[in-house]
Amino acid sequence: MKILVTGGAGYIGSVVAQQLLATGHEVTVYDSLVKGYRAAVPQGARFIQGDILDRAALDAALEAESYDAVMHFAAFIEAGESMQKPGRFFRNNVMGSMTLIEAAVAHGVPRFVFSSSAGVYASKDTPLTEDDPLGPASVYGQTKQMIEETLFWYRRIHGLRYVALRYFNAAGAVEERGEAHRPETHLIPLVLQVALGQRERIAIYGDDYPTPDGSCIRDYIHILDLASAHVLALEALDERPEMLYNLGNGTGYSVKEVIAAARAVTGHPIPATVAPRRPGDAAALVADASRIRRDLGWSPQYPDLRDIVASAWRWHQTHPRGYR
Ligand SMILES: NC(=O)c1ccc[n+]([C@@H]2O[C@H](COP(=O)([O-])OP(=O)(O)OC[C@H]3O[C@@H](n4cnc5c(N)ncnc54)[C@H](O)[C@@H]3O)[C@@H](O)[C@H]2O)c1
Repeated sequence: MKILVTGGAGYIGSVVAQQLLATGHEVTVYDSLVKGYRAAVPQGARFIQGDILDRAALDAALEAESYDAVMHFAAFIEAGESMQKPGRFFRNNVMGSMTLIEAAVAHGVPRFVFSSSAGVYASKDTPLTEDDPLGPASVYGQTKQMIEETLFWYRRIHGLRYVALRYFNAAGAVEERGEAHRPETHLIPLVLQVALGQRERIAIYGDDYPTPDGSCIRDYIHILDLASAHVLALEALDERPEMLYNLGNGTGYSVKEVIAAARAVTGHPIPATVAPRRPGDAAALVADASRIRRDLGWSPQYPDLRDIVASAWRWHQTHPRGYR
């Protein structure tokens, strides 16, 4: 298929673009580079520098080629920042996605794959299923819920086939691509920055949560497992025109377990200090991903935390300054 990948110069989009190329699809990356890197775009993909808020630029891209699908990764992703600058997030994630969906429908693109998030759920201490109540704790999560709801109506009114994938924490790296957010707020790269000597210590935000070791528990899914689910979902859209799945490992690891894994993988002591809890942090966020396993036959190939951290460590050692 011919696929337009928005946000394909970012962490997840670039790895999915690479996997799409490896499975025989044609890829055009559409990214403004506001947070991404030209060097992350895989060889073999065409690249258009453009903003999803720019309808004229989208029209030009969609007129130039006839696409079989849009895969939409472009967004701002910092939940914390979204609580300080809500307008920035509603504009980029909601208005941007709406502009893109409208343009895709106007140009007859039949399939749409959307990066949603575990941030749409109300927090819960046991694994989350797709039927659990929604209740975003941040504007970021709210923007994802709004676009899921938009897609529901575009399916009904315009027949757009879509899948929304609610990612838990994407993690790990492949040889040439890894996590390089600006600013970085994700635990694994931050811990590895300590091992690289770029940061003195790692903060554990709260160690009095009702979890076995007191620190927060999250579900980390290897970026390659995330990518393989996209390829499967894309190919399943003809038989299943409307899909919504959790995408996670199904296993939770605590902040302290991640730090211990990083110590084991890097051999660095990685000093840690306990800091106060951050508002809005749930004690645990773990996926029940049985629906995508059952429907699409997907299963994670790299579920082990140590393997995930080791893959990230290899990338951070060879790219100590990320893509710069
Ligand atoms: N990283 C995670 O763990 C995680 C978890 C849940 C959901 N997600 C979602 O996955 C998607 C990708 O996340 P990521 O971690 O790769 O983030 P990222 O910041 O690395 O990538 C996002 C990309 O989108 C581009 N972009 C942003 N706004 C744009 C715009 N208006 N026009 C064009 N390009 C624009 C950026 O330049 C960047 O290359 C996002 O939609 C995010 O909300 C990520």
